[in-house]
Amino acid sequence: MDIQALISQMTLEEKASLLSGGDFWHTKAVERLGIPATMVSDGPHGLRKQDDKADHLGVNDSIKAVCFPAACATTASFDPELVRKMGEAIGDSCQHERLSVVLGPAINIKRSPLCGRNFEYCSEDPYLAGKMATAYIQGVQSRNVGVSVKHFALNNQEHRRMSSSSDCDERTMREIYFPAFEMAVKEAQPWTVMCSYNRINGTFASENRWLLTDVLRKEWGFQGYVMSDWGAVSNRPAGVHAGLDLEMPASGGINDAKIVEAVRAGTLDEKDVDLCCERILNIVYRYTENAKPETPWDQEAQHALAADIAAECMVLLKNEKNLLPLAKDEQVAFIGEFAEKPRFQGGGSSHINSFKTTSALEAAKEAGLQVVYARGYSVKEDAATEAQIAEAVAAAKAARVAVVFAGLPDAYESEGYDRKNMDMPACQNQLIEAVAAANPNTVVVLHNGAPVAMPWIDRVAAVLEAYLGGQAVGTATVRVLYGDVNPSGHLAESFPLKLQDNPSYLYFGGDARATEYREGIFVGYRYYDKKDMEVLFPFGYGLSYTTFEYSNLRLSAQEIRDTDELTVTVTVKNTGSRAGKAVAQLYVGDVESDAIRPLRELKGFTKVALEPGESRDVTFTLNKRSFASWNEKIHDWHVESGDFTIQVGASSRELPLCACVRVQSTVQVPMTYSVDSIFMDLMADEKARTVFEPFFRKLQEGFGGGEEEKSEAAQEAVSDDMGAAMMNYMPLRGLMSFNANPEVIRMVEQLLAQLNS
Ligand code: BGC
Repeated sequence: MDIQALISQMTLEEKASLLSGGDFWHTKAVERLGIPATMVSDGPHGLRKQDDKADHLGVNDSIKAVCFPAACATTASFDPELVRKMGEAIGDSCQHERLSVVLGPAINIKRSPLCGRNFEYCSEDPYLAGKMATAYIQGVQSRNVGVSVKHFALNNQEHRRMSSSSDCDERTMREIYFPAFEMAVKEAQPWTVMCSYNRINGTFASENRWLLTDVLRKEWGFQGYVMSDWGAVSNRPAGVHAGLDLEMPASGGINDAKIVEAVRAGTLDEKDVDLCCERILNIVYRYTENAKPETPWDQEAQHALAADIAAECMVLLKNEKNLLPLAKDEQVAFIGEFAEKPRFQGGGSSHINSFKTTSALEAAKEAGLQVVYARGYSVKEDAATEAQIAEAVAAAKAARVAVVFAGLPDAYESEGYDRKNMDMPACQNQLIEAVAAANPNTVVVLHNGAPVAMPWIDRVAAVLEAYLGGQAVGTATVRVLYGDVNPSGHLAESFPLKLQDNPSYLYFGGDARATEYREGIFVGYRYYDKKDMEVLFPFGYGLSYTTFEYSNLRLSAQEIRDTDELTVTVTVKNTGSRAGKAVAQLYVGDVESDAIRPLRELKGFTKVALEPGESRDVTFTLNKRSFASWNEKIHDWHVESGDFTIQVGASSRELPLCACVRVQSTVQVPMTYSVDSIFMDLMADEKARTVFEPFFRKLQEGFGGGEEEKSEAAQEAVSDDMGAAMMNYMPLRGLMSFNANPEVIRMVEQLLAQLNS
């Protein structure tokens, strides 16, 4: 389709009309020119396609579909290939259902355990979130349908989400909140991006030209269209100028008219309108020209895939005395309503109308396992009666192992509001305590989308974090509990001991105007590690039924320039007696830097399957970004020359291998000096030092400074260390105030001219 030719035939009114939805889920058609409407649908872990009559009011009013594990779970797989497969399946379903775009992945950083939508977000780490999102996008888009990467940007809480300003400094945005989006755009070129509801430093994302045009398009090279989150538009003409192509849902023509008005009044350039049309039409035709509604959608096959994926995501957090895996012939009690009715997805726009679900109880029965069931608590009433607890305790006593299915009910975490604390329901904690007191072989299976407090952790033998594992979660749980699948998930987020430990604790939620991101770059493990704090479970952590050994760390070079790549190789060996999958993680740390930096940051990971006794080499490739931090002076990534540690191991807190590489920067950060510049900074800057050192010597000679012996009293008053420190922190103007001499003033002026030339 010749999009330019098409646009040239459109009236201003038609062009403006194209820039908002035709209804809740469709782009507009322009019948006169044969431009078709296309449909979008929520996801991202399945389809929430609402039929034409349904509207946004009924969350469950959508077609029967397959609910895959949510991003809280899939990210814990640390397996991009797996997520790619899930994306392909969802892409096929989109083709079958004539959907042009699935609304997701949602990749906002998990800044606090409290964010209501954490369950659909990936991680506290931007590199991990970016890699997993990229794979998902590539999977979906390989089927010639698009995704909408959301919510761009800084939408890390639900509280006041449509009005609050996320106030954040440039470096923190670039290092923490942007990279997942940046990676997704650069490596997977999503068809669309959804801008967030919130403001960013005062300006709505939907009107933010810096965000939507300068960063997203000019810097990162985004080619698709930007759509608004549903109802995120405040000033539509400002949005058009900013680069917000499509307003969703329909605006009843009101905002279309405002666009026309603004163009006629000369406050909006018609070229901006044309550009939005072009970007929307490119995608409309990319879909329609490749539509394949004959693509089959085998829901049973996808259910089986959902089970396979869910099993790969589960994180074994504790397994004392190798209580797990369970033997298939032993007497086991499944306790807790989640065993019968698992919580497998979150509430809100990502809620999927599953065509079927499999609970752990059903899966166990199907597999012929000897399982008795006690309900333990009621999710609906959020309570456990004495009788329910007594029944659970009796069941636990009669069995060799008691498995309590617990976690967060729907009402505890959902789109639209944040959690109030990190606690699980009191009735469930009480149940776990009672069961653990009755049977030392107590296992807890958790269904939740973000960290919970575990006051009972010392009294249970094992904990399996199943997250929100999708409609087949029961099958996956049973496979893992009984060892058909060896758990290989690792935490994509830190579990703090208590909420107050979380770095955003003092600021999260903010006030009526804004939420300030005052913890800066120190999100998640970047904070806990730097502060050397104990956590309940660290980022990257996860156990297996086998053991792995990391050895033989090799670097391709001891010294590189920041334009070079560095290859890092390690050997991973399965030292146990079961086949399993290790997640080798690589972290980089700057040994010494002017910028305040985390101790270590994840810069590579690989999941590797190993038979007992088998070992394999795993290779990581690092580049400038692996070492750089964002420099606000040059508004770019910058590597400070010096040594960097490369650590490899099984989690952020278990890194047995360490090597050092020296990286030489090829970029000179321009420095401007003034009379307020201090000696230390002049000496630290190689270029400045060559000018400053001879100057300083000359000054000392000229004024007889320095070399003479100090009296004892003088030594006592000002020790050598103190003297050195005072010199270090001395500004150039100090020379003038302590040597009030026209000659010195002239010399300093000359020096500055030379330094700044
Ligand atoms: C959510 C989006 C979602 C949209 C459409 C909004 O409220 O924030 O994630 O895609 O609704 O349902």
